[in-house]
Amino acid sequence: MTDHNNSTVIGAAPKGAGDRASAARAVQEMFSAIAPRYDLLNHVLSFNIDRVWWRRAARTFAGILARRDARALDLCCGTGDMAFALRRLAGESGAAIVGADFAHPMLVRAVRKSNGSSLRWVEADALNLPFPDESFDLVTSAFGFRNLADYDGGLHEIVRVLRPGGELGILECSEPGGLIGKFYGVYFRRVLPAVGTAISGVKGPYEYLPASVGRFPAPTDMIARMRNAGFREATWTPYTFGTAGLYRGKK
Ligand SMILES: C[S@@+](CC[C@H](N)C(=O)[O-])C[C@H]1O[C@@H](n2cnc3c(N)ncnc32)[C@H](O)[C@@H]1O
Repeated sequence: MTDHNNSTVIGAAPKGAGDRASAARAVQEMFSAIAPRYDLLNHVLSFNIDRVWWRRAARTFAGILARRDARALDLCCGTGDMAFALRRLAGESGAAIVGADFAHPMLVRAVRKSNGSSLRWVEADALNLPFPDESFDLVTSAFGFRNLADYDGGLHEIVRVLRPGGELGILECSEPGGLIGKFYGVYFRRVLPAVGTAISGVKGPYEYLPASVGRFPAPTDMIARMRNAGFREATWTPYTFGTAGLYRGKK
C-alpha cells in the first residue's frame, strides 16, 4: 500500500485492531506481556546479531554523539539496548541521551539495566512526544518504528522534535529477496514464531513480528515518506544480507 499524499493512514495493525487507537493499545499490551523474556528472545532469535546491529547503527552517528552539547532521543527504546549503544559511543562526556517508550514493563527493565550510566528514561507515546519543538540533534529507533500505528504521523513527530540539521536513524527488520530471501522466509515466518511463542509463553507477538515486517513499506516507499515528512539525504543501508537495515535522514 503506497500513499505519498498521506490521505490514508498506514501503520502497524495487530490482529483484531480496527483503528489507530486499538492498534496502539494492542502493541502496548503485547510488549508489556513479553517484557520479561524480551531480551533473551531477541538474542536467541537473531543469533546475537542484534548487538552488532545496534552498535553499527550507533557508530553511524559517532560525530553527533561525541558532542557535549548534543541531545539524542532513542524512540521505542524498549529495554534500552540501542540507547546503551549510543551511551557507550558518546562516553560519559558526550551527548545527553534519553530513551522513550510507552510500555511500562519494558522501561522498568531498561532502568534496571542502566547500572548507574547517565541515561534518562521517559514513558511516552512516539506519536505524541512530551518534548518541545527542536529539542534533539539525533533521534534513533531500533525495531520500534514499525510498530507505530501511523508511520507518517511518527515521522512528522520526529521532525518536530529535531533541531534543524538534526539526524534520524531508524533501524528496522526487513526481508531480503532472491534465494537468501526464500530460506530466510522459512525461518522468519515458521521457525521464529514457533520458537518465540514457546519461550515467551505468550501467543500472538511472535506471529505479529513477521506480519508487521510484511506490512512495513519497502525501502523506496519509506524513503519517499521520509522526504515527504521533511527529511533530506534520506537513505537506506541494508545490514546482514538485507535482513535488517538503517534508514537515515537529515532535517
Ligand atoms: C521490538 S521493541 C524494540 C525495543 C528496542 N528498541 C530494541 O531494539 O530492542 C518495540 C518497542 O516499541 C515500543 N513502541 C511501539 N509503539 C510505540 C509508541 N507508539 N510509542 C512508544 N513506544 C512504542 C514498544 O513498547 C516496544 O518496547
